[in-house]
Amino acid sequence: MCGIVGYVGTKKAYPILINGLTALEYRGYDSAGIASMEENKICVMKDKGRVSNLNSIPGLTDLTGTIGIAHTRWATHGKPSKENSHPHMDNSETFAVVHNGIIENYNDLRKFLTDNGYKFLSQTDTEVIPNLIHYYFSKESGDNKFLSAVQKATADLKGSFAIEVLSSLYPNQMIVVRKDSPLVIGKGKEGYHIASDIPALLEYTRDFYLLDDYEYTVIENNSISFYDKNLNEHSKEIKNIEWAATAAEKNGYDDYMLKEIYEQPTAIRETIGSRLKLGEPCDFSDIEISKDYLSTINKIYIVACGTAMHAGLTGKKFIENLCKIPVEVDIASEFRYRNPIVDSKTLCIFISQSGETADTIAALKLCRENGAKTLAVSNVIGSSITREADYTIYTHAGPEIAVASTKAYTSQVVLLGILAVYFAEILGSQSQEAIENIKKDILELPQKVETSLKSADEVKAFAKQIYGEKDMFFIGRGSDYNVALEGSLKLKEISYIHSEAYASGELKHGPIALIEKDITVISILTDENLVEKSISNIQEVITRGAKTFIITNLDLSNAHFENVIHIEKTNPLLSPILSVIPLQLLSYYISKEKGLDVDKPRNLAKSVTVE
Ligand code: F6R
Repeated sequence: MCGIVGYVGTKKAYPILINGLTALEYRGYDSAGIASMEENKICVMKDKGRVSNLNSIPGLTDLTGTIGIAHTRWATHGKPSKENSHPHMDNSETFAVVHNGIIENYNDLRKFLTDNGYKFLSQTDTEVIPNLIHYYFSKESGDNKFLSAVQKATADLKGSFAIEVLSSLYPNQMIVVRKDSPLVIGKGKEGYHIASDIPALLEYTRDFYLLDDYEYTVIENNSISFYDKNLNEHSKEIKNIEWAATAAEKNGYDDYMLKEIYEQPTAIRETIGSRLKLGEPCDFSDIEISKDYLSTINKIYIVACGTAMHAGLTGKKFIENLCKIPVEVDIASEFRYRNPIVDSKTLCIFISQSGETADTIAALKLCRENGAKTLAVSNVIGSSITREADYTIYTHAGPEIAVASTKAYTSQVVLLGILAVYFAEILGSQSQEAIENIKKDILELPQKVETSLKSADEVKAFAKQIYGEKDMFFIGRGSDYNVALEGSLKLKEISYIHSEAYASGELKHGPIALIEKDITVISILTDENLVEKSISNIQEVITRGAKTFIITNLDLSNAHFENVIHIEKTNPLLSPILSVIPLQLLSYYISKEKGLDVDKPRNLAKSVTVE
């Protein structure tokens, strides 16, 4: 969603701000803007459209200020327009604010401020913030007027926010604060860099302050001070994030998505790390779940959104098969409003690549309030979800920049697999031999993913045949159905082709009515026990004129199907990690054939920080 960048240092701010906004483009946005402190005046430049449009605003290159704030906006309140773009200023142009999140009580605040003589120039919720700061500032006395006014104004806000504030009366200062919306501060060689996302700052530093909710931070020249909700000052630890500085670059690939698809063997290898070794118990010493606790658990929920939820569907199969604990998987936005039955005997697992998805975090808080232990699976160190959960385990996929998730998904599935093996070891629910066999299969995954990647040319050729289509179907049984769901989501996201995923056995219960001549049906077929039934389903659609594309690890030569992609055999529980790869490539190549922006699909944002 929206992105925030800021800089307080010794260099000219505007090029750093534009660079940061460019690095955040992947989050999705429709307008952009910056504010630079020029002597004692705040200079705002903003417009709808791409970050690159800012470069053509007259006067941009004349800016010399070394403090500035910047923003990419993804419209929620008010259409994309110059007026609605950030930064927003108060009526007296003393305060400038950029904001991520949603101010839920902005109508009340707007009315309050209007009654007090303030005027509004935009339709945004954000514009109340600088005016509210001005309102409190005008009533303050004493040394800390700026900080105190920001604190009072933010105390009135309901909803979520990450904000940066400049004041022309304090030309050397920036105040930042967050609640339920991400914000990090990096300490670079030439100043402090602020952003909503770590990858935007990897070029400058790997040392970060990860702000807590209502932790007011004042950055001035070469100093940084942290204050709690009541403005008591405290010290704060700096964290080193191990991502390589080049991890957020394309490194010769045309698109981040393609790069990330090809990074999967490494991402999986890193995620396995030292957690899983043959002949040794799994190492989850960072969470230490006891046998006493796990034995009391009678149900596990896995809650997430989108692709992360699809990873959860495969996680359910791992846990139910290996640990014999029933698992329910739910979409976070549904789960949180359906009064789920959660208590201290329920373990709740939340999967979120970004760790910032609003619905997933809200669902976690709900489970915690109901007495359940919560476990987060995330890819971003220190992200909001990891700070809310009782336990956190990390995928080590490296920064995922493309909006469409690929390497995070396969890493999540692998990590859930290892977690299930760990639980099975604790519970003694599998023989030692079975445990060793699945460990061996997991350790072989990176190399087998390499083989799946070799299908790229065949997949590309098929993409060329079908990229003009309007509708497609994905079918599969068992774990293959979970992969069908993910393949269909990937296709919709980046190629804008409508598609549906069905459990193959459901076709006859309705959807087969839609199968007609030349419609494409993509089948995933990796479970030996279901092969005959699945072949019948494919034949049924071919009989009705469908064109098929099949991903399998089985010998289907007797069936004489066309367009068959072969992947390697593995434990059936793990096959989604191999079979999803040709589907990721298929969506990618279809999108490229259509000339679309693969990394930044329309209307989508990388991290969905509002409901
Ligand atoms: C699809 C995709 C989304 C995310 C979903 C959850 O390619 O990326 O469906 O999986 O928005 O995001 P996280 O995992 O950050 O909570």
